[in-house]
Amino acid sequence: MFDLAILGGTLVTPTQTQKANLYARGGRIAAITADVLEEGALETIDATGLFVYPGFIDTHVHSRDGGATHKEDFLHSTTAAACGGITTICEMPNAIPAVIDAEAFAAQKANLCAKAVTDFALWGLCIGGRNNDKLVELAGCGVGAFKFFWGYAINKTTYGLVYNYDPADTNMIPPMDDGEVFSIFQAVAKTGKPIAIHAENANLIRELTDHCVVGDYKNEYEALLHCRPALAEVLVVQTAIEYSKATGVHLHILHISAKETVGLLREAKKAGVNVTGETCPHYLCITADDYGRIGNMIKCYPPVRYQADQDALWAGIADGTLSLVCSDHAPHTEKEKNDSLFKIPSGMCSTESMAPLMIDAVNAGKLDKNRLAAILSQEPAKLFGLYPRKGSLQVGTDADITIVDFEKAKTIRAADLHSISKVTAYDGVTVKGLPVYTILRGQVIAKEGEPVTGKPTGQFVEG
Ligand code: DOR
Ligand code: ZN
Repeated sequence: MFDLAILGGTLVTPTQTQKANLYARGGRIAAITADVLEEGALETIDATGLFVYPGFIDTHVHSRDGGATHKEDFLHSTTAAACGGITTICEMPNAIPAVIDAEAFAAQKANLCAKAVTDFALWGLCIGGRNNDKLVELAGCGVGAFKFFWGYAINKTTYGLVYNYDPADTNMIPPMDDGEVFSIFQAVAKTGKPIAIHAENANLIRELTDHCVVGDYKNEYEALLHCRPALAEVLVVQTAIEYSKATGVHLHILHISAKETVGLLREAKKAGVNVTGETCPHYLCITADDYGRIGNMIKCYPPVRYQADQDALWAGIADGTLSLVCSDHAPHTEKEKNDSLFKIPSGMCSTESMAPLMIDAVNAGKLDKNRLAAILSQEPAKLFGLYPRKGSLQVGTDADITIVDFEKAKTIRAADLHSISKVTAYDGVTVKGLPVYTILRGQVIAKEGEPVTGKPTGQFVEG
């Protein structure tokens, strides 16, 4: 007897589309076959007309647990992720305490284990000379990759991000200079793990912000974009590519927002540099023109830019320049978002809406069904060292499955989100195509966008 049978569906991977039945036992995929097996199963899902994907993975989630659990916590973020078709998340390290060494790693792993509805992996945080010598040990604990917030000032005691840096504030560690950043690349190279970077040049942003007259622009958002231009991303990415060449480290460029960066990445990959890149739904689904409709909820770092950027990002997804899409789920309270655009923190809730928006994009002809399996399953798993246990449909691997109905439509409502914060850019947006079953190691954890038991049965997975 199997635990679960998924019958009559179409299995989709980056390279195959195949009508087959899938059976799970003991949390693993036990059989994939054209036959209906006589043994039967405790639970059967009729997937006729539906598409069976390797469980979607969100590699970029800030759950705010600990440190800011009034914005979000791990039970809520992983519930929201599960409702949006995600079976594994990779949790960002900028919690309090931040994941900067083996001790903090152990504490965070224990904290999150008790609240995980999906499986989860952990990022490690780079804070330059303050923890370069701890990274090898941290890698040994099982972090999947290291994150460096290039261009951010950080709080002296918590290492929390400073969203709007004031050089006069003595409680901050100013953005690191390029020399210190090089030492981070050297230190991460020794671990064998990727270094992933937030890419914004702080000096350029400060200079432009200091001289910005908001009234000179069509609206406040255009002024913000002037202060955080594509050039700020490009400068950092150019330096990072050279640092990757010099150290050999796998460089991963986070949340790419600008068309110029897509071009740089394409060329660097062609030249054989060990570099990958990602983007997020907000850079793919909305533009600066939507500011009037969406308001402050649109604010993210790097910022959402123009149609030409969006077009280049889609082209980058289609030709493989961008290997994955992730949410950059970054909740803040509605109250915090309700102030002047320059003052408020950046980020929104997005793990629950990511897969629905990307499935909708398949229906809109922006990418094909197989590429969806690459950007949401296979490539995220590869980046984090989880493949093929996660991100594939192979006998013997974890039975993590997302079943997609490409016909089912739904209007996203902020109030319906399962996160604590309801800050989203997609309130009232109708998507066609939804994840209808989220299955974690053979157990259905969400159905039709709602949790099944809500119990934290998720486990830590080592990267
Ligand atoms: O908009 C953002 N918010 N971008 C980031 O890089 C960090 C994030 C956060 O943690 O709030
Ligand atoms: Zn982020």
